[in-house]
Amino acid sequence: MELDEVNFFKPEVNKCPYDAYGVLREEAPVWQDPLTGFFVVTRYDDVRAIIFDTENFVNGARSRGRVATPAMAERQKKIAELYETKGWTPAPTLAGRDDPNHKQMRALFDHAFRPSKIKMMDEFVESLAHRLIDDFIAAGTCDWVKQFAVPLPLIVIGKQMGAKEEDIWKIKAWTDAWVQRLGMMQTDEEAIWSTEMEIEAQHYFQPIFERLRKEPDDTLLSDLVNTVIPEWGRTLNDNELHAEMMADTFVGGSETSTNALSAGVKLLIERPEVWSALKSDPEKYLPQLVEEVLRLEGPVQGLFRTAANDVELHGVKIPAGSTINIRYASANRDERHFECPADLDLDRSNTKTHLAFGAGTHFCLGAPLARRELFLGFKALVERVDRMWFLEHADGTPLNNFDIAPNFALRALKELHIGFVPAS
Ligand code: HEM
Repeated sequence: MELDEVNFFKPEVNKCPYDAYGVLREEAPVWQDPLTGFFVVTRYDDVRAIIFDTENFVNGARSRGRVATPAMAERQKKIAELYETKGWTPAPTLAGRDDPNHKQMRALFDHAFRPSKIKMMDEFVESLAHRLIDDFIAAGTCDWVKQFAVPLPLIVIGKQMGAKEEDIWKIKAWTDAWVQRLGMMQTDEEAIWSTEMEIEAQHYFQPIFERLRKEPDDTLLSDLVNTVIPEWGRTLNDNELHAEMMADTFVGGSETSTNALSAGVKLLIERPEVWSALKSDPEKYLPQLVEEVLRLEGPVQGLFRTAANDVELHGVKIPAGSTINIRYASANRDERHFECPADLDLDRSNTKTHLAFGAGTHFCLGAPLARRELFLGFKALVERVDRMWFLEHADGTPLNNFDIAPNFALRALKELHIGFVPAS
């Protein structure tokens, strides 16, 4: 691929962005995308440096937003009116704030997601993984995405957010709509539709907040609803809670783990030697598998920062107010940091330095939970399945097209049809 062919909105680049990342890392490590105006940063050291430089690169109030064109501004106005008249205007999320305000709110979340609480969820996650496999094991085939990778994290986070298990597909439709908006590839109609979907979700969650205020329980949401932030002298209000439900807990907590669970199985089928190693000693290799999957197929390909000041990087002048697109998934395949980066190496020594969860002050809140979901999800698969393959049509043509949902920020396999021999 040539530099002038790099275009993240092209379906083939969306499907496999890794060549494009390679070209950018080599030829234009700070590349101003002509379509969005964003400064795309792709090398490991640069991505890491930006994440830690919270003086020059910010997320919150000092950021001027990402409205690139008048048409986009008009769309934003319509969306704002919808929230005001029909629902709750989402307040800035955790990820959309800067310290010290961010740190004050993050302490509340860190308390809710404390290690002892995550550990208590292990038993449920593991038994859920087996329950989901029970449903398709006898058939010898499944769509791994729909039958395992989507429901596992969604049911786990749903339970912690006061939702009923039978509602997960309704919630999935809301999170899909939200993710489509984040993906920045929507028409005006789609943007309005996805806002209306979010408002529908708000009306589902509002009574749950009200119930938990009256009757606290042991869920994560109950802590989020009822814990006072000392510096603010109050608990989160409805607008703050609604923002967190969609962006940080349901989307942050399900879409991402889903995509790692899906990508992991695809990688395992493509690499039978890795599967054999895993079968031979799951306890030894599973933790490393989890990290390598996250490194190679990061569910969050890239997110954003805003330049708070004029800065210069690799000779490129980035004016204050510019949007920086930091591509974690490219950093994670940077040959300057990882040897033979495209290999899934169960003995790689520096795997855990990957940036799939970001780093620094905004380091992923849900990383410990996601790691347990991936570990226990893959563990159940190793225990229940001996061999697996990609399904084909009767005429021998492949059933999988490995399509990736169009999205500038996230990476999601739409479906993954596999056949398998159950473990004896
Ligand atoms: C494989 C799964 C996951 C991946 C790859 C992932 C990735 C990320 C990344 C890249 C960031 C941004 C870091 C930055 O801005 O530099 C982030 C932040 C965040 N994630 Fe995750 N995440 C995952 C799972 C989860 C889960 C399970 C939850 C919650 C249940 C969650 C909640 C959050 C929240 C709340 C933030 C914002 C933190 C802050 O700004 O302080 N994530 N995640």
